[in-house]
Amino acid sequence: MIAPSLLSADFSKLGEEIDAVARAGADWIHVDVMDGHFVPNLTIGAPVVKSLKPVSSLPLDCHLMIENPEQYIADFVAAGADYITIHVEASRDPAATLREIRRLGAKAGITLKPATPVDALVPFLADVDLVLIMTVNPGFSGQVFMAEQAAKCAIIREHLNRLGSKALIEVDGGINPQTAKQCLDADVLVAGNAVFRAADYGVAIQALKNAKG
Ligand code: DX5
Ligand code: ZN
Repeated sequence: MIAPSLLSADFSKLGEEIDAVARAGADWIHVDVMDGHFVPNLTIGAPVVKSLKPVSSLPLDCHLMIENPEQYIADFVAAGADYITIHVEASRDPAATLREIRRLGAKAGITLKPATPVDALVPFLADVDLVLIMTVNPGFSGQVFMAEQAAKCAIIREHLNRLGSKALIEVDGGINPQTAKQCLDADVLVAGNAVFRAADYGVAIQALKNAKG
């Protein structure tokens, strides 16, 4: 599946951009939420998700790059987030936060920065619907893919299989048709610039799907 990241879209017309990628074959819409503390950039929050919900036919995949995500879970669920992914480094109690996401009716995801060892996710894998492997340092679109990070996908896949978990694996950062080939263990590819900077969204999304085979 392909999840175009709105961070690379034209913010003056997000509704039209969502409609365009949906018609071009996108599966999810990836929404990058940044607080200027956990990452050195500020983007959008729950009010924007709430505005996008009625105009999106696709699941909204919200990637929270924010400190104390527990404070905002209820807002994001109320806004219509389908998947809510928290950073393991950002939450005081990731297990409780993941439980809260599910209790409120959304799908729960966990992720980590490139510098964080993959083992940090293991205690939470039985309680998530999505595991996001970052292949850039979170904060900005258009960065270069960190190839060595993709190896984390295979390790996560083994753990999920061992647990009998059907959680999906997603990769995010520097994904294009070349780097996607290095992410064969991923179920969902996030792509910002590779989709929204392309002349034809449909061609770009199909190229990503073809790369995965
Ligand atoms: C980075 C974000 C990504 C980013 C991806 O912090 O989490 O979702 O928008 O953009 P590209 O695909 O251009 O690297
Ligand atoms: Zn993201």
